[in-house]
Amino acid sequence: MNCHHDIRNLGINQNHWYAVARSIEVKSEPVSVTLWHQAIVLYRGQSGKVHALEDICPHRFVKLSSGRAIAEQLECAYHGWRFESSGKCSYVPYLVKNQKLPSCKIRTFPVQELYGFIWIFPGDKSCSNSVFPLEIYEWEHLNYIATISVIKCRAHYSYLVENLMDMHHGHLHQNWQAWTAAELINLSESDRQVDAYYQAQNYYKIDKIWSIFQLFFPSLRQLHPEPLNVSYIYPNLVSNLGKDFKINCLLLPINEVETQAYLIHFTSLHAFWRLHKLPEWFRRFVKQSLFGSAQKLLDGLVKQDVEMIEAEQQAYLKNPQRRGYELNRVLVTVQKLIRTQALK
Ligand code: FES
Ligand SMILES: [Fe+2]
Repeated sequence: MNCHHDIRNLGINQNHWYAVARSIEVKSEPVSVTLWHQAIVLYRGQSGKVHALEDICPHRFVKLSSGRAIAEQLECAYHGWRFESSGKCSYVPYLVKNQKLPSCKIRTFPVQELYGFIWIFPGDKSCSNSVFPLEIYEWEHLNYIATISVIKCRAHYSYLVENLMDMHHGHLHQNWQAWTAAELINLSESDRQVDAYYQAQNYYKIDKIWSIFQLFFPSLRQLHPEPLNVSYIYPNLVSNLGKDFKINCLLLPINEVETQAYLIHFTSLHAFWRLHKLPEWFRRFVKQSLFGSAQKLLDGLVKQDVEMIEAEQQAYLKNPQRRGYELNRVLVTVQKLIRTQALK
């Protein structure tokens, strides 16, 4: 096989929206992010709008993210050139009489701020209106409590996607996993999406006010069968365990051996119908105060996964030719989608 088409070397399909930062991370101070080899500077203008430009000053190629925002403009730290959010140079502090502003224009990226994240479209701008960021309605919905864990792994993104789609890896998490005994029931695919339907035994049941303690005391959990579904909606993932647990994973592939992702875990409070009759301000207060309540659990699970994923990457780098034995057909389908999308 041609080494460049080896799945562990494949690039990404740029014609999708990628979550590159959390909303709260982007204030007026410029932030640098990298999306598949592309350095991007994000800053929030005075208007509150977030702008995204290539993170390179056209003057001497230093990072614009070392500079500062002035109203809607971005000022380079080195010689103080200023640029509009459209990428046009608008000011040079030492321009002499009769000297014109340089006609340089920095590349810009379409940006959206949705569901608590900053989304960037790195591809062909004319396509940015025909595709949409992954919908995360639970972010605002008062019945859902969110926890966010940031995944940073030194591995190709395909290893992370495969980890999240392969429900048989619950073995790794032992006492901390939310489910056990996953069995693949059905699998469907399109050129944009893979849906895997498993049946599993769920350890958690959120129906009493004290159910939340199951997160901390494994002995309170009781096994019961529930559907466990996971979808790869390129480039992100969504999974559901019964009605009460939901996970979104927003991928930020950095390069062939580095991937970042936001894992958002939602626990629903829908079983507490009395709570839903309380005033909205109170429900909002409950949602906000419980934000991050699964942090320790989630971070612990992520740590175990990252360790395995990085080990896989290292083994690949040592011997890229070697092929393993795969028994889960979900992974074959996932690899097919990664390939189709990357080579589009
Ligand atoms: S390098 Fe940016 S202003 Fe000179
Ligand atoms: Fe895991």
